[in-house]
Amino acid sequence: MRRLLARLLGGRDPVLSQASMRDSGALAALHAHSFHRGWSEEEFERLLADRGVLAHRAMIGRRLCGFIISHMVEAEAEILSVAVSQRHRGSGIGRLLLALHLGRLTALGIKVVFLEVDEANEPARRLYRRAGFHEVGRRSGYYAGPRGATSALVLRRDLV
Ligand SMILES: CC(C)(COP(=O)(O)OP(=O)(O)OC[C@H]1O[C@@H](n2cnc3c(N)ncnc32)[C@H](O)[C@@H]1OP(=O)(O)O)[C@@H](O)C(=O)NCCC(=O)NCCS
Repeated sequence: MRRLLARLLGGRDPVLSQASMRDSGALAALHAHSFHRGWSEEEFERLLADRGVLAHRAMIGRRLCGFIISHMVEAEAEILSVAVSQRHRGSGIGRLLLALHLGRLTALGIKVVFLEVDEANEPARRLYRRAGFHEVGRRSGYYAGPRGATSALVLRRDLV
């Protein structure tokens, strides 16, 4: 429904592909808009130069509207970050990015994926729940938020 509305209002479908070092600047800008502590362009460059790092991007036209990035060690991966630009949230881009990313991790031989999410981050928790992640740990009071400290949930998904 949201997608149909976006199309009627002139929105375009996102195009998903693997991200490369050339995307570092755009990734850093979107990250900075999405999190309290942004990662610099140099940090993204370092990450994307690492052969153990996998990243995907979503583009609408020539603009980056979302990304997901993870780090792989042997048969395990950790999702380090995922973000969708504010104006495109809630239209399924996060779900598309995560599905593509998990498919690629599976193809690369990854068997299990972990990530950490703020318990107060309802959109992210819904995204991961829908993708089959479940809670395997909790770090109490890990995030300092405007309404007090919240816990970090450690989520896991086994890939088959
Ligand atoms: C988390 C995030 C990546 C989700 O991306 P998105 O493209 O908006 O997600 P989708 O449209 O695919 O929706 C995913 C789920 O979140 C839900 N959702 C989206 N926006 C929501 C909102 N404002 N409130 C509650 N749920 C919301 C959707 O309904 C959907 O759940 P459902 O399948 O059960 O209906 C995006 O909100 C974001 O960039 N947030 C800021 C960065 C962040 O917190 N990243 C996660 C760090 S762990």
